[in-house]
Amino acid sequence: MQENAMQEKHREISNTNLVEIKQVTKVFRKQKVLNQVSLHIPKNSVYGLLGPNGAGKSTLLKCLTGMMNPTEGEIQFGGHVWSREDLNEIGALVETPPIYENLSAWENLKVRALLLGVPDSRIREVLELVGLANTDKKRSGAFSLGMKQRLGIAIALLNHPKLLVLDEPVNGLDPIGIQELRELIQEFPKAGITVLVSSHILSEIENTADHIGIIVEGEVQFEGNIHECENLEALFMDIVRKKRREGIR
Ligand SMILES: Nc1ncnc2c1ncn2[C@@H]1O[C@H](COP(=O)(O)OP(=O)(O)OP(=O)(O)O)[C@@H](O)[C@H]1O
Ligand SMILES: [Mg+2]
Repeated sequence: MQENAMQEKHREISNTNLVEIKQVTKVFRKQKVLNQVSLHIPKNSVYGLLGPNGAGKSTLLKCLTGMMNPTEGEIQFGGHVWSREDLNEIGALVETPPIYENLSAWENLKVRALLLGVPDSRIREVLELVGLANTDKKRSGAFSLGMKQRLGIAIALLNHPKLLVLDEPVNGLDPIGIQELRELIQEFPKAGITVLVSSHILSEIENTADHIGIIVEGEVQFEGNIHECENLEALFMDIVRKKRREGIR
């Protein structure tokens, strides 16, 4: 009876998470870049993945978006073990936006829409959503960095994903671009889109995410609700310094 109750409770918890990363390890040659990483991304949250340079953030996001396979461990998506079919429900912007520079924003989206069987109405919708509806025939190669990032997000959104994965999306953006992107990201959960966003910029995550995970040198050091961290900067610095001291010993 008690066991049933525990199983029930476990199921309840699983249902609230869109993604569960379970003890994922990634080894490149002999370097263990991710070591038994376990994270829980609640449905309809903005989840901030924080970590200093080289912590393993991009590697983890690549495992989740099918660009790499974990060496060990498991990823669950929507309550089942992740498979490549889930990529239909995952939109991603990892590293540089996949843009044909000689095409306009609309044309870039049309190329993908044809592949995905998405109607033109959806192209207009995502262009509106990311604020690129008025770019007309302008070549995307002539876009500012912020506009290119937003086109990358529009491409990731075309297929109505349940999960949007953004790796360091504010890199290189000016303060206005950052603010605009922040506002855009915060709208997504209202539309049923869970956002997993990585950054090494604390203020960015502090102002955007409602849940955070901190990884340092491939290991999870903290996971929780943003409201549980009174001073994210102090927490982050403590964690990173402690981990580095351990490494030196
Ligand atoms: N394809 C690869 N082959 C070998 N090593 C790799 C590869 N990709 C990443 N690494 C190594 O894995 C470690 C983690 O890299 P990763 O790019 O995941 O870190 P990150 O947290 O995204 O860092 P940043 O904040 O600088 O983007 C680094 O030591 C990197 O050199
Ligand atoms: Mg990275």
